[in-house]
Amino acid sequence: MFAEQVGENISYEKILAPVDGFVDAANAFLAQEGAVGCNVTMPFKLDAFNLAKVDDQAAKDAQAVNTLMNGDSGEIWGYNTDGVGLVNDLLNSGVEIKGKRVLLIGAGGAARGVISPLLKAGATSLTITNRTKAKAEEVASAASNAKVQVAALEDIADVAPHIIINSTAASLSNELPCRLNDGVLQNCEVVYDMVYKNSPTRFMRDAAELGVKTQIDGLGMLVEQAAEAFYIWTQKRPDTSDIVKRVRAIVEQGEKRN
Ligand code: ATR
Repeated sequence: MFAEQVGENISYEKILAPVDGFVDAANAFLAQEGAVGCNVTMPFKLDAFNLAKVDDQAAKDAQAVNTLMNGDSGEIWGYNTDGVGLVNDLLNSGVEIKGKRVLLIGAGGAARGVISPLLKAGATSLTITNRTKAKAEEVASAASNAKVQVAALEDIADVAPHIIINSTAASLSNELPCRLNDGVLQNCEVVYDMVYKNSPTRFMRDAAELGVKTQIDGLGMLVEQAAEAFYIWTQKRPDTSDIVKRVRAIVEQGEKRN
């Protein structure tokens, strides 16, 4: 869709690499005539980070790469566009990040990738909470920024967040990643769930019922991280607004069939 929009003629296909064969698969793909780059998805983002030369701060912070590109002298460059994707989706949705307190739930790869872009976008504080608190502490200490803090799940109301981001997989099993009815939503303007389904997740629905004005799912982030990767490869920036709608229609159709 991006290529069509900006008049590029590309081929973008899926490659299924064996779990222990990422490096060979990536090298074989990138060695092909005309190969510009590729996206990398779970579970290979750490392998991609180790394979590539990385200058991109978001990728360094996340220790994860989701976008590879062939360099001019045979080197392979690695980037992480997940966080920019989240920030751009928030901004497109009219959410102000500057001056806001952000609560980030989860401490996996998805959480790591969004920390520095959120701080760059002007969040005044970013508090990480996680079912396993030690992992949140690890991620916070790797970020080594005074604005990044950790809260135990039972203390998140004290954070009084304006924006809550759920980076956990809890929504996939219809679970809540934290309690929402203990005051944590008092100042909350927006909840963001990185999961997307054909209908709002339980986390989004409960937050709405408890008075949070805006709930956003992760489909826009998916499109925006892809747009950023497309920009890295082509130096052309697609207009994503219509594409998000088209992708949502495809997701809804797909889920109806399943
Ligand atoms: P990813 O790289 O996609 O973030 P991950 O590294 O497996 O995936 O991390 C998953 C995150 O979701 C973790 O923070 C995990 O919490 P733990 O560290 O305690 O395992 C969190 N998570 C997964 N399922 C959850 C659930 N049902 N409730 C709360 N947190 C959950």
